[in-house]
Amino acid sequence: MAFWDLPEFHCEMIKPLCNEAQRLSLESRTLYDFKYGDVPFIAPGFTEELAKFLIKEYDDNDIKSSTLLPTFGATNALQFVMNRFFDNGDHIMMEEITYGRATQFAKMYKMKVHAVSSTGKDDCDVSLTHLEELLQKYGRDESELTEEKPFRGMMFLLPILNNPKGTSFSEECCRGVVKLARKYKYLVVTDDVYQWFQFNDEPKKKRLIYYDKLDRDESGYGNVISNATISKIAFPSIRIGWLEATTTLVKQLCLYPHYESSGGMNTFNQNLLMHILRLPSFPAYCEKLKATYKKVLAECCEYLRNNLPENVTFRYPDGSAFLWVQLPEKYDARDLRKLCNENDTDMLPGTQFTLCPEKYRHFFRISVTNGNPETRMESLKRICEAVKKLVN
Ligand SMILES: Cc1ncc(COP(=O)(O)O)c(C=O)c1O
Repeated sequence: MAFWDLPEFHCEMIKPLCNEAQRLSLESRTLYDFKYGDVPFIAPGFTEELAKFLIKEYDDNDIKSSTLLPTFGATNALQFVMNRFFDNGDHIMMEEITYGRATQFAKMYKMKVHAVSSTGKDDCDVSLTHLEELLQKYGRDESELTEEKPFRGMMFLLPILNNPKGTSFSEECCRGVVKLARKYKYLVVTDDVYQWFQFNDEPKKKRLIYYDKLDRDESGYGNVISNATISKIAFPSIRIGWLEATTTLVKQLCLYPHYESSGGMNTFNQNLLMHILRLPSFPAYCEKLKATYKKVLAECCEYLRNNLPENVTFRYPDGSAFLWVQLPEKYDARDLRKLCNENDTDMLPGTQFTLCPEKYRHFFRISVTNGNPETRMESLKRICEAVKKLVN
């Protein structure tokens, strides 16, 4: 329930942009656009337009079209990277609190999953000491590394606005992770999905790949792939995302059947998105969307501050759309979910976001962007009632 059920106001905002872009996209299409096209099957001009948009959004002049590779969205792209570079039995390090689907995929591919403990202010960082202990212990043999499979193992991290915690890595942690990835020849895939929605007063967080660009050997593979998506800033059913990596890695990723044959990843919609990104009204739409979600988040926080019992706490998130709420330790949020469901509302228990279910069984996540203003507040009211029933 993460922006999946887009509220009506969001759909209303995107509709005129989509109509206009669709018109321009269809008018500009040649007969050629309806065919499979040419290897590597990327809609002509799309990555150039995307690079221009990202340079502004990320404030990073180092993004080029050759460092971007379109995908079917972040969920699909994660499986694609796992598939492309790793095998059964390879090791993957993840944060204690992570995106549940990533854990599912790693297990599906029979990778060996290890949880890295959290540390720092509000547990925002991964423990570099613990990470290094794991890296020393686990990884493919150096002798098994080839040009096609150049990494000893994988890390999957959410350095910016972790879903569900709403925290971001410190700069020191980012630099430390990159250093360890280089030392132990690991590939870090970062889930860069919510960076658009940083609402605190701090400078905009830099993605981990930014730190991997510093002092990098230009001929090298690099150690970070940014896995990003347009789902949250435009709309998810367009199913377009992108990977950002060194040109060397992008070339390696292209050695995948989707890019070598079979028509690529949704080139029709890449073309549509290209026209959306070009619309003069798109920047204003993005700003309005961000401001609206910021307001929604603030209203929900205020409501919960005033209506949750004192022993049920949460941290005001740095951004995104989630509240990570902590019950007293003796409670299990799965019991709370039953009470919520009886009351015709929902939340997700912490156990769905963690590799350490015992440690986080008394946490739960509320997604604040679901529904419209009235239904959202009614839903929060019912969640608060269920919490009171459980803890009182
Ligand atoms: C952390 C995280 N990663 C990835 C995704 C999915 O992205 P996409 O729609 O591009 O598959 C979500 C969606 O809710 C998410 O919360």
